[in-house]
Amino acid sequence: MKLLHLDSSALGTGSVTRELTAAIVARWQDKLPQLQVEYRDLDRDPLPHLTGQSLAQANPEEAADAARTMEQFLAADVLVIGAPMYNFSIPSTLKAWIDRVAVAGKTFRYGAQGPEGLAGGKKIIIASGRGGIHSGAPSDFQETYLRQVFGFLGVTDIEFVRAEGVAYSPQHRSDAIAGALASIPEPVRLAA
Ligand SMILES: Cc1cc2nc3c(=O)[nH]c(=O)nc-3n(C[C@H](O)[C@H](O)[C@H](O)COP(=O)(O)O)c2cc1C
Repeated sequence: MKLLHLDSSALGTGSVTRELTAAIVARWQDKLPQLQVEYRDLDRDPLPHLTGQSLAQANPEEAADAARTMEQFLAADVLVIGAPMYNFSIPSTLKAWIDRVAVAGKTFRYGAQGPEGLAGGKKIIIASGRGGIHSGAPSDFQETYLRQVFGFLGVTDIEFVRAEGVAYSPQHRSDAIAGALASIPEPVRLAA
């Protein structure tokens, strides 16, 4: 079984979502020691923005990284993604990664019945960190977007481990992190 661990926070060791993804992955490794874990730090090792040059595969290094990124996504049974809210949405580094895995003919297609996701059967756990409180509010373009885009690719098993209101006060922050750590879903062996 393969787990792909992604972080995208720009806040380094002070990051809430990095703390949460590390705890989630450690839990999976404890429960399933045979698990193969791959890691990419999208902040330190970002993919370039998707441009016309990228689509034309003008840069061989970029094209090779895009191909590796797609393979890694398709091979993963479980993804653990650190996704802070930045400007009501997600970090552009995470969006750049999504732009490389949402590819017509590979992870979705359109047909007479409309769109069809081709990357189903995975489990995605998203560590969400937010300075404010946005659950259920129209200001949430972060979790709603992630559910939409991964759902479009065929992934319906998506869980959020959420710490929000972390900017309200130090107490809010530590309570939110403790609550998020306590809410980590139990790892499960997936048919692979
Ligand atoms: C560039 C930037 C933009 C942010 N934008 C928002 C925002 O729109 N709404 C919000 O509630 N918090 C916002 N925050 C606060 C973060 O969501 C919060 O600090 C969260 O813990 C980030 O996760 P991280 O610590 O893993 O980076 C922003 C933080 C940064 C650094």
